[in-house]
Amino acid sequence: MEDAEWECTVEAPVNIALVKYWGKRDSELILPYNDSVSLTLDEEKLGTRTTVRYSASYEEDSLVLNGKPTVISSRLSNVIEEIRRAFRKQAVRIKMNAQDLMSMSRYRFRIETNNKMPTAAGLASSASGMACITFALCTALGITESVDMSELARLGSGSACRSIHGGLVQWEAGKEEDGSDSLAKQIYPASTWPELKFIVLVVDGEKKKVGSTEGMQRSMATSEYMLLRPKQCKDRIQEVCWAFQAKLFPALAEVIIKDSNTLHAICRDSYPPVNYLTRTSEALIDFVHRLNEALGDVCVAYTFDAGPNCFVIFEEKHESLLMWLLLHTFIENDVIDPTIHRQPKWDDDELAKY
Ligand code: DP6
Repeated sequence: MEDAEWECTVEAPVNIALVKYWGKRDSELILPYNDSVSLTLDEEKLGTRTTVRYSASYEEDSLVLNGKPTVISSRLSNVIEEIRRAFRKQAVRIKMNAQDLMSMSRYRFRIETNNKMPTAAGLASSASGMACITFALCTALGITESVDMSELARLGSGSACRSIHGGLVQWEAGKEEDGSDSLAKQIYPASTWPELKFIVLVVDGEKKKVGSTEGMQRSMATSEYMLLRPKQCKDRIQEVCWAFQAKLFPALAEVIIKDSNTLHAICRDSYPPVNYLTRTSEALIDFVHRLNEALGDVCVAYTFDAGPNCFVIFEEKHESLLMWLLLHTFIENDVIDPTIHRQPKWDDDELAKY
């Protein structure tokens, strides 16, 4: 029995922030400075797949990331320890017999995780990655129901907490010091607006020079624009929620575009400044504004995280025109790599199907 091994495999999606998280009120617990809101994408093409093998016969926890043995970071180690703690609490609650509890407490994990897209390139790989590992470990220990997985995933990487849910997801900054009120919650399911589509344009798949964690620290320390963020984000999130439930694309698009531009203005205002966008990113911004102008309405939105890669958001009815134009302006020259995504077909209660 001591040598027995088990395994479980799960997948988790990336999420695209529409109103961005940037800055922390507590760096240890990864508590954000402002509320944020995101949309979860399908996990078939983007996202992460994780297999956890566990046994009391393994000597220590270990991690293989994208095929390479990797040292477990202090953040991931916090996630694992919190999951063990949640397991012990649950064991007491369900009055698990002492022998089972003892043997399960000795489990060590071999985590094998693979991102389906470039890692650390501003394509939300840390979000799906940490969400996926959290989900896999909780599934392995049978604690998916009794804990808020968003709270656990958040300890690995802030934005990961939003990948625990499908649809439009809000992560509240909260006020409590222990972070107990800083959870991610679904606001509307993906089925509210199934015609929404996304293209991910990979301008550069290389690892970014200034990671999000460092970039946001720099902004918190040096950019006065940050003072506006808590209220600005609350107002923008209200607009996003209203536009999403009413399916008003131009209203949604305007907020998305403005918030992406605000994030990058803050980065440029930070000292020393951070510039995540390249000339191709700027050309894409220009392209979207010119297209919207030609169409006489805001039919396409763009948003950039901490990297040069572009998420384009639009409704299905504009897909052919947009793809044709992109093919002829950017993609033909091999500048970018287009992938079309939908929101996931599953809804929250089906996340556990893997
Ligand atoms: C620009 O979640 O990667 O993508 O919490 O330090 O791990 P840490 O940062 P991370 O930051 C993501 C920032 C962003 C905006 C967003 O996803 O809301």
